Amino acid sequence: MNRFIALALPVVASLAAVSAQGGQTCNSTSLCPAVAPCCSPFGFCGDGAFCLGGCDPLYSNTLDSCKPQPVCQDATHTFTDNSRIYSNATLFDGNATQYDWVLNSGNIMNTNTSGGELALLLTETNGGTRVSSTRYVHYGTITAKLKTGRWGGVVTAFITMSNVKDEIDWEFPGANTTTGQTNIFWQGNIPDATQGDVTGGLTDTFSNYHDYTIDWQPDTLTFLIDNSTVRTIKKSDTLDAAGVAHYPSTPASIQLSIWPAGINTSAPGTVKWAGGMINWADPDYTAAGHFYALVQSVTVKCADPTPPAADITAYVYGANTTADTPGVAFTNASVLLNGAPAGRHQQSGAGTTHEHQFVL
Ligand SMILES: *[C@@H]1O[C@H](CO)[C@@H](O)[C@H](O)[C@H]1NC(C)=O
Ligand SMILES: *[C@@H]1O[C@H](CO)[C@@H](O)[C@H](O)[C@H]1NC(C)=O
Ligand SMILES: *[C@@H]1O[C@H](CO)[C@@H](O)[C@H](O)[C@H]1NC(C)=O
Ligand SMILES: *[C@@H]1O[C@H](CO)[C@@H](O)[C@H](O)[C@H]1NC(C)=O
Ligand SMILES: *[C@@H]1O[C@H](CO)[C@@H](O)[C@H](O)[C@H]1NC(C)=O
Ligand SMILES: *[C@@H]1O[C@H](CO)[C@@H](O)[C@H](O)[C@H]1NC(C)=O
Ligand SMILES: *[C@@H]1O[C@H](CO)[C@@H](O)[C@H](O)[C@H]1NC(C)=O
Ligand SMILES: *[C@@H]1O[C@H](CO)[C@@H](O)[C@H](O)[C@H]1NC(C)=O
Ligand SMILES: *[C@@H]1O[C@H](CO)[C@@H](O)[C@H](O)[C@H]1NC(C)=O
Repeated sequence: MNRFIALALPVVASLAAVSAQGGQTCNSTSLCPAVAPCCSPFGFCGDGAFCLGGCDPLYSNTLDSCKPQPVCQDATHTFTDNSRIYSNATLFDGNATQYDWVLNSGNIMNTNTSGGELALLLTETNGGTRVSSTRYVHYGTITAKLKTGRWGGVVTAFITMSNVKDEIDWEFPGANTTTGQTNIFWQGNIPDATQGDVTGGLTDTFSNYHDYTIDWQPDTLTFLIDNSTVRTIKKSDTLDAAGVAHYPSTPASIQLSIWPAGINTSAPGTVKWAGGMINWADPDYTAAGHFYALVQSVTVKCADPTPPAADITAYVYGANTTADTPGVAFTNASVLLNGAPAGRHQQSGAGTTHEHQFVL
């Protein structure tokens, strides 16, 4: 415990927990009603915070029920303290200028080593911790300098996650601290053409900082460790029989997390993948009172296919550009929950398949 400055924040109820108390559910065949227009990442309908981070436009009442998603900005996020992280995602008003991150669930601390580090905590009682960026990235290069956990069943993750669940992952099952795993999901599913991949031979990922990079461009996705390429996926490699690319193409937030995979509510395959059940009697856990992962910095270099005009605030979804591929446009509308809803939309130039297709 004493290696951390004592800044632990209280547990934050997740949207899942809040809405499990009786909210209407949403999915591809059952959209949210107008009175609770926004579909949360966990498939529950609501208003307010439900319309921010992770709100699924395809399952919400209308395509523009979710608040616009704050546009990408180049940044180097450091964690000399946690003042840029808002402590309760369910109370966030959407102001991405005021906060760079929100705490979705769990507990964070800040260390006083290496210039300050964000510590993501995991406990038996409170579970894991997830922090999400308030701004989205629509293609770009994202690097997280982090130290992983080192405990079986405990997974450290640095991912991008879009509101329709296009996802790009770096994951670190704690039982093996010489490896990192990469994966992509397209609208919630692993594309047939790609599989999870393991990169080995790393110096201990618990003891050493490494730079893990997701270089996400419209036609190619490259994973790097310490500036060396370890995996490349081409969009053209992900085409299905109908010619639809199963390649992440929608704006995504950056998520940093530590999560308990080795628990009895996980599927057996998940427990095995993560390195077995968590040992809550581990000396590291009993000494500190938690498991943890440390993040020193996250850098973002945006690569929007068309740079946003000066007054652009956010991304919005539009009609499909090709089968099953949502269009993405820029807007100058407010991103605040209480902001004016209307705004001017502009094509975001989302790559070769996304031309001329907007207007909501
Ligand atoms: C976060 O906000 C929600 C909604 O008001 C509230 O129920 C919850 O207790 C808050 N959590 C914390 C840790 O303050
Ligand atoms: C979608 O939600 C409705 C209403 O809750 C439910 O009846 C239906 O089975 C769900 N469909 C899928 C595909 O999950
Ligand atoms: C958003 O936050 C910034 C920085 O704190 C502040 O200057 C601005 O007034 C806020 N915007 C609104 C609409 O509250
Ligand atoms: C942080 O560490 C520095 C030296 O590394 C020390 O001078 C300072 O007092 C520490 N701050 C806190 C809040 O512990
Ligand atoms: C970690 O994974 C690598 C690659 O799969 C393997 O060679 C190594 O033996 C594993 N180490 C442990 C401790 O399981
Ligand atoms: C990766 O390259 C960047 C930019 O050149 C540099 O700042 C950084 O130190 C490098 N990281 C490593 C681990 O070599
Ligand atoms: C699952 O784990 C929880 C907490 O560790 C424990 O309370 C519960 O009894 C366990 N359930 C089963 C079926 O093992
Ligand atoms: C657009 O794409 C979504 C998501 O892939 C799909 O569910 C929907 O049916 C498509 N809509 C049209 C009109 O093709
Ligand atoms: C968006 O831009 C249009 C002009 O193109 C302007 O009339 C409107 O007020 C702007 N909306 C916001 C919210 O700034």
